[in-house]
Amino acid sequence: MSTSRDNPLARFSAFIWGIGSFLIFTVLLLIFWANRDQTSTLEDAAAAKRYETKTKVDASQDAGLVYKEIEPGKKVQVPPHDVFELVGKELASTKPVAVEKPEQVVPGSATEKKLAAAPAADTSAIDKAPAADVPIDPVVMEKGKAAYQLCGACHNQQGEGLVGPPLAGSEWVTGPVSNLILMQLRGLQGAITVKGKEYNVPGGMMAMAYQDDATIAAVLTYVRNSFGNKASAVTPEQVAALRGEVGKPQVNAAELKKP
Ligand code: HEC
Repeated sequence: MSTSRDNPLARFSAFIWGIGSFLIFTVLLLIFWANRDQTSTLEDAAAAKRYETKTKVDASQDAGLVYKEIEPGKKVQVPPHDVFELVGKELASTKPVAVEKPEQVVPGSATEKKLAAAPAADTSAIDKAPAADVPIDPVVMEKGKAAYQLCGACHNQQGEGLVGPPLAGSEWVTGPVSNLILMQLRGLQGAITVKGKEYNVPGGMMAMAYQDDATIAAVLTYVRNSFGNKASAVTPEQVAALRGEVGKPQVNAAELKKP
């Protein structure tokens, strides 16, 4: 018997196995090399993650955009006015929201009718005389002065009146607090006599119920103690007590307490 070393067939098969293993090893090495993790630093790893996330976000936003096929195979993003039209049609064909917020009552809705028919709020607690000589808080006055920028557009910077009637020397401003809070929460319309002169501005004054209680209290405290006016402060609690009035139609002078 000859040893395998002398067997040409065995030597040939060993040769083939050798080449085969070498090739397999090389191919594995190449695959491994091609797929090696090229992120070398932590920053690189983080950046890769961010790019991946951004790509996903872009893709999902893209999916939300409206495209139109202008010619076969050519899609363009629909310009915004078309989108508005689509959104408008969508809204028009859907039912109105089930729950209306008082600040956004739909005109003619059941909520509006219910609010209009609701009894007037009890304002006696709000208008009972405040403790005498409660000093006006300067911080509240500053806050009120800032908020007055809006009022000033219609009532003028010194409350002398412009589009709206004057606030300086107005008996309404220094009168019952509940009147002022109701005007802020519901707005005001119809004839109103201020300093002996009748005003009836078309459209009246809009409700400004979106302002929080503290802001309304501050701006009212400010107008009651500026432009030569002098009256008690208005508290956020007094405003909060009338929040239930939000959404009712604009008040008119006849509904208010005589100043
Ligand atoms: C867009 C204009 C406009 C803005 C802003 C505005 N008002 Fe008026 N305001 C009016 C008009 C108009 C009237 C009179 C409504 C009427 O004719 O019934 C009025 C009436 C009033 C009155 C009762 C009449 C008087 O002169 O005493 C008070 C008080 C008042 N506003 C306070 C304020 C305060 C406080 C602000 C800011 C938080 C404010 N208004 C913001 C237009 C405005």
